[in-house]
Amino acid sequence: MGFSREFLWGGATAANQYEGGVFEGNAGLSTADVMTNGSHTVRRQVTWKKETGETGSTPLCFGSEERHLPEGAVPCLLEDDRYYYPSHRASDFYHHYKEDIRLCAEEGFNCLRFSIKWSRLFPNGDDEAVNEEGIRFYRSVFEECRKYGIEPVVTLLHYETPLALAAKYNGFDSRHTAQAFVRYARTCFEAFQGLVKIYLTFNEINCIDAAPYVTAGLIHADPQNIANAAFHQFLASSWTVKMAHEEFPELKIGMMLAYGPVYALTPDPQDQLLAQQSLNRTLFYSDVQMRGIYPDYKLKEYEREGIVLPAQDGDLDVIRRYPCDFLSFSCYGSHVVTVHDENSEAGEGNGGAKAHMVRNPYLSTNAWGWATDPQCLRITLNTLYDRYHCDLFCVENGIGWNDVFEDGTVHDSYRIDYMRANIRSMRDAVDYDGIPLMGYLYWGCVDMVSNGEGEMAKRYGQIYVDADNYGKGSFARFRKDSWSWYRDCIASNGENL
Ligand code: BG6
Repeated sequence: MGFSREFLWGGATAANQYEGGVFEGNAGLSTADVMTNGSHTVRRQVTWKKETGETGSTPLCFGSEERHLPEGAVPCLLEDDRYYYPSHRASDFYHHYKEDIRLCAEEGFNCLRFSIKWSRLFPNGDDEAVNEEGIRFYRSVFEECRKYGIEPVVTLLHYETPLALAAKYNGFDSRHTAQAFVRYARTCFEAFQGLVKIYLTFNEINCIDAAPYVTAGLIHADPQNIANAAFHQFLASSWTVKMAHEEFPELKIGMMLAYGPVYALTPDPQDQLLAQQSLNRTLFYSDVQMRGIYPDYKLKEYEREGIVLPAQDGDLDVIRRYPCDFLSFSCYGSHVVTVHDENSEAGEGNGGAKAHMVRNPYLSTNAWGWATDPQCLRITLNTLYDRYHCDLFCVENGIGWNDVFEDGTVHDSYRIDYMRANIRSMRDAVDYDGIPLMGYLYWGCVDMVSNGEGEMAKRYGQIYVDADNYGKGSFARFRKDSWSWYRDCIASNGENL
């Protein structure tokens, strides 16, 4: 009983929130680098300019209904004291990677998830030549991991499309971006051969509906553009899987889904249907990426809305023949939906449809409204396994908190409670339900800028980073109480909770 000996224990990060060094090593900008900071009450903005010289900002981010930059505007950096861009320094992993990897190794990690900043390898996304300095940086990171026996898991695209591809091609709306992605993937497979064996194609691919700019680089996102972009990401993922199977057979390529169970608030059949429909909005993405088909419920929806897939000859066949090798997912909590409450603002968190969402009366939430659900992972794992019968990998789970730093540490018993409940729930899925689970990666193991809010104050880490919302601080690292707790948990292979 319990987790296998090969179980992957560790943490997860993303370049745009963690790496920094945006102006170093000849990197190009990404869509994340022109996103301002924000908070729970203030939306992040994308800054832009027009040829006329007019400048401004638009909230093309999570939580905003805005889907377009003004006509003629291109996203760019603005030298203006009103705007602060948190990705530029983030947690300064760029200069702290050796220290961070050592601290994670001491914590017992045998796995660490990173994303590669595509524009660090190809500054415009589709340049002729690769930026060798970018390759050197990531090689050095992965070598450092290997030194400690840590398996790197690499997300090829985590919420940052090269800015030039967003400005010129409307990101993944265009087939050109999908083709450029595959070339970038090939470059990674060749350059990091022997160092990286597990890749994920697109982080939280289903979040394209909630945040098309963040997820797929769309500066104009009508429903047809979103359908195009999703299609081009599916296609790019299948092309990548095909290439890996044919030329790099040692690699495993996973998809990545933002998932949270959706509960109906009442036994009213209307609520039950709503919960099912809400789940299908998410599972559509894994239906395509794991089963290789566009499900009927989605094709019907497209038909009703007059949406046409931009498929060329042979595309659907590639998607059908090359699903991903495993399904990885993020899971932070669950969601509740009902037709009996107009107050759809009450429930929050990622992965679910916001419409009709309400707070779960049985669960407590953090300051950002995210609910801790002690059965969350067990329910998630069962749903996904029932549907796909494939290997599963939890690559994000965690809790953001306004930590208080005192005496060189943080006494984060709330984080330990969250992890204990979630790991127990996951263990039950393995022990009682027989789910094949590859591993568990805690999100944001080292404090980093939050994606939704663009602030440092929403900390997830087991390792504290001395930096504030404006990148001020020493950036020194400190172990929190949860660091020791997780170390003991990993040492006992999840027995000691
Ligand atoms: C996931 C993303 O949605 O949730 C991460 O993959 C993100 O990038 C994480 O950081 C937590 O969300 P947030 O908004 O609290 O940072």
